[in-house]
Amino acid sequence: MNQSACPFVCHVFVCTNDRKGERKSCADGQAKALKELLKDAVAKRGWKTRVRVSQSGCLGLCQQGPNVVIYPQGLWFSGVTHDDHPSILFALEKILAGS
Ligand code: FES
Repeated sequence: MNQSACPFVCHVFVCTNDRKGERKSCADGQAKALKELLKDAVAKRGWKTRVRVSQSGCLGLCQQGPNVVIYPQGLWFSGVTHDDHPSILFALEKILAGS
C-alpha cells in the first residue's frame, strides 16, 4: 500500500443513491444529472486537476436530499436542485481562490 497527499484541493461528492421509491433517496431528485452538470461545469472552468466530482452512496441524511458535500472543507448542501448548482460552483471558486 502507498500513502500520499490528496492530489485534489477538494472532492465534491454527489449522493446518487437510488432506493427505487421504497423510501426517500437522493436519486429521487435527479442527483445523477446534477452530478453530470457539476462535472461538466468543473471541466469548463478548467478545474479538473484541482476538483474531483464523484457520485457517492448514501451520505446518511436521506430525508434532506439530494445531498452534495465538499471535502475536506466539510461543506454540505441539502435539498439541492439543478438551479442550485451556481451556489456550489461559487463555493468551489472561493475554496480554489484560497488554496
Ligand atoms: S440517499 Fe442520499 S443521503 Fe441517503
